[in-house]
Amino acid sequence: MDKVEQILSEFRLNKEDLKEIMERMQHEMDRGLRIETHEEASVKMLPTYVCSTPEGSEVGDFLALDLGGTNFRVMLVIVGEDEERSWKVETKNQMYSIPEDAMTGTAEMLFDYIAECMSDFLDKHHIKHKKLPLGFTFSFPVRHEDIDKGILINWTKGFKASGAEGNNIVGLLRDAIKRRGDFEMDVVAMVNDTVATMISCYYEDRSCEVGMIVGTGCNACYMEEMRTVELVEGEEGRMCVNTEWGAFGDNGELEEFRLEYDRVVDETSINPGHQLYEKVISGKYMGELVRLVLMKLVNEDLLFNGEASEQLKTRGSFETRFVSQVESDTGDRKQIYNILSSLGVLPSELDCDIVRLVCESVSTRSAHMCGAGLAGVINRMRERRCQEALKITVGVDGSVYKLHPCFRDKFHKIVRDLTPHCEITFIQSEEGSGRGAALISAVACKMAACMLTQ
Ligand code: BGC
Repeated sequence: MDKVEQILSEFRLNKEDLKEIMERMQHEMDRGLRIETHEEASVKMLPTYVCSTPEGSEVGDFLALDLGGTNFRVMLVIVGEDEERSWKVETKNQMYSIPEDAMTGTAEMLFDYIAECMSDFLDKHHIKHKKLPLGFTFSFPVRHEDIDKGILINWTKGFKASGAEGNNIVGLLRDAIKRRGDFEMDVVAMVNDTVATMISCYYEDRSCEVGMIVGTGCNACYMEEMRTVELVEGEEGRMCVNTEWGAFGDNGELEEFRLEYDRVVDETSINPGHQLYEKVISGKYMGELVRLVLMKLVNEDLLFNGEASEQLKTRGSFETRFVSQVESDTGDRKQIYNILSSLGVLPSELDCDIVRLVCESVSTRSAHMCGAGLAGVINRMRERRCQEALKITVGVDGSVYKLHPCFRDKFHKIVRDLTPHCEITFIQSEEGSGRGAALISAVACKMAACMLTQ
């Protein structure tokens, strides 16, 4: 057990480490915002053209698309308004899984598949004849020129469709819809999932000026002062910045904190050298990190009598949901035993306890790393706003945050520890990606209408 603990102690980050990570994150954020350093900064700080001066919104039916995790989702949302605020009701919602070949083939194949799903959805709900305004939640790094125009910088999270990077994503979607020719759509806004989450929570709580996702991927956005967003002209008000902090570390900023397991996960991934912060935190990689640690313990003869099953030796076999399930075990080890036997090993009680410790080590490090990043964002906001105390709400979504039994509490605690003089409320968004996209489309429609009538 001493030997095991020694190996796992490498995962522990103390407060000094976390402060250091937070400060490096802030440094990269500053570099991402400035024109001279933007190109080389790992944290890109992408302007989203979602601004703090709402013009009110249109009301009516909107279609929302959500692409960015393992599933693709189409939603019909009704946006309405009362005296105080806009509200939204999601009426219909369908999930489509994305076949591997659409993810890794050509962009044309991927967008044809998306258009096919949309067509199916419109048929099912008998709304094919309507030309609805559409909000697209596209959860990858996009360099926007406007709210409805932006090029994909690079894919993340296992997507690889060729011919998309460097191209206008809304253009690719419009072309695919045109190719089908069986329905029309008015694409009015494209947003990142962090932005959609922030917007959907903003309608519940006007202090919500930060959005964060900890799911398959990991990222955050927040409302930044326009004068510091050098990539966009204008000084007044605030604009939402998509930090794309998942790429933090890609310039070596995390080197002394990354372990041998992180290096293997990175080297065997589809995008080696990229998204290194995300690879320490998010659900796409957490299970595999645990598996690699388990293999290390087996090889050191500290687990399963020094023997692993073929399954456990196979990359990807320890799914991230198992990490949550292992840590949810009530103490009788039944759940842990079942998971391990489904992977072909017959564990002793001690084996079960060790596996649990491994899961805890990996997920706690994830929560702490992620907390250091968010604390960096929030402290920066307070400094920029020159406020003695900052009261802020963070809208959060993502499977790791929502489904892991302890991630949330450990994460909240670290963020609060690292942000003195800040009063932070966390709210969980429900279907934020789709609802947020519909809401921002409603605002975008209104703004377009204003521009026309002026
Ligand atoms: C993407 C971000 C996204 C995050 C969460 C990352 O891989 O680069 O754009 O917000 O995943 O989905």
